[in-house]
Amino acid sequence: MKRIRIFDTTLRDGEQSPGCSMNLSEKAEMARQLEKLGVDIIEAGFAIASPMDFKSVQKIAKAVSSCTVASLARCVRGDIDAAWDAVKEANHPRIHVFLATSDIHMEYKLQMSREQVLQRISDMVAYARGKCGDIEFSAEDASRSDRAFLARCYENAIAAGATTLNVPDTVGYSTPQEMGDLIRYLRENVRGIENVDISVHCHNDLGMAVANTLACVQAGATQVECTVNGIGERAGNASMEEIVMALRTRADFYGVETGINTKQIYRSSKLLSNITGVPIPPSKAIVGANAFAHESGIHQHGVIANAQTYEIMNSTDVGVPQNTMVLGKHSGKHALREKLESMGYELTDEELESVFARFKAMADKKKNITGSDLEALVLHRRNNINPTCRLVSHVVNAGNSIPNTSFVRLQRDGEVLEEVAIGSGPLDAAFKAINRMLGMDIRLESYSLNAVTDGEDAIGEAVVKLTDGGGESYTGTGLSTDILESSIRAYVNGINKMLESNT
Ligand code: KIV
Ligand code: ZN
Repeated sequence: MKRIRIFDTTLRDGEQSPGCSMNLSEKAEMARQLEKLGVDIIEAGFAIASPMDFKSVQKIAKAVSSCTVASLARCVRGDIDAAWDAVKEANHPRIHVFLATSDIHMEYKLQMSREQVLQRISDMVAYARGKCGDIEFSAEDASRSDRAFLARCYENAIAAGATTLNVPDTVGYSTPQEMGDLIRYLRENVRGIENVDISVHCHNDLGMAVANTLACVQAGATQVECTVNGIGERAGNASMEEIVMALRTRADFYGVETGINTKQIYRSSKLLSNITGVPIPPSKAIVGANAFAHESGIHQHGVIANAQTYEIMNSTDVGVPQNTMVLGKHSGKHALREKLESMGYELTDEELESVFARFKAMADKKKNITGSDLEALVLHRRNNINPTCRLVSHVVNAGNSIPNTSFVRLQRDGEVLEEVAIGSGPLDAAFKAINRMLGMDIRLESYSLNAVTDGEDAIGEAVVKLTDGGGESYTGTGLSTDILESSIRAYVNGINKMLESNT
């Protein structure tokens, strides 16, 4: 079967979506997970955008070995130089240059004529090719560009050394039929196109990003650009998990395959959600909590008689953990390591130590530790390894007829700090005590709490977004069977990220 390349732009276009920013180590962790998932290309960032973007592209270039690592660049020498400097140490580096080709973008944004755009593409693709053997050229807003002119742009890019041509539906305006027709048109009208990869990059403004991408595959595209959970500018990009599972489940129809290890899909989705604090909607295809749940009696009866009556995929195919009781309070470290390995998690000794300590504390309060509980503990492991501030203990008194008071004890770089405070509610009281003891003016921008599993002893996962007055937002997450504790842990975790980014 023909192999479709998966170009993942979670760390570039995805990270551009509000509330989805990640710090350096989170990006590197996500990149390593994308490598396990089996994506072909990781677009690691836009190196010229900021020193932090440059560093993260560089870090990812060194952290992954099998994937191609790309950096985005405008058709400008400075951008291309920065992109190359950031990716050059990757085993497989790529520079991704782009320039808008629609009349509206050329007139109002670029203020360039068609002839100037054609010349710039030739010059800058050649300049990039002089540095790197793998060059992708994107015609931004391709789907709203004049077709004959677009074909000339791509011909110039090929002549100057581009190895992949990307066709973006930048504003998510096209329909599947139009996108498919555009790919067919380009295949017939661009000289040399048979020697390069044809890529598509669809945005989801009208909810058609995945359908548009699949129509392009049918029309002959060989690379698809997508993000985990479909995050991205505005309504997002085409969702990786939906494209991959559509191509796999309907291989009879599409007749193509990808190199994705589908058992890593759920884990990748959860990791991204855990890092960004952006929840996965319950009805989200493939990775939502309800994606494999059968509620109606008729459906349940059918599935018991023959799973295929209502199931076109198996939840284990995408790596959803099974929620039968897996471990209990008498389970040892060895059993924990084995269980985690069977779930696909390989932890360092230090990580295992930290997860084991939290597992034991949890098993004292919760009889059955399920696959989802273990997964939550693993996803939170980085919060507990050498944090600047660590929650030692807390006491909170709350009620509707007494003042809400808190006592919180933290350890900061080994020093014990404690404080009491009164607040408008129990969390407000606890957060005020922390702000006071650290002498920081932290604002809580948003807060959410979700149960990891069902049942009265379910673990609660709290997510907070904090700001320090500097405009930057930091996501903190915390886990506990006690919702006050998970909230305080989330707050402390957000502060740790804030402190780390300022050092
Ligand atoms: O949406 C878009 O056009 C892009 C390009 C930079 C590829 O993200
Ligand atoms: Zn985009």
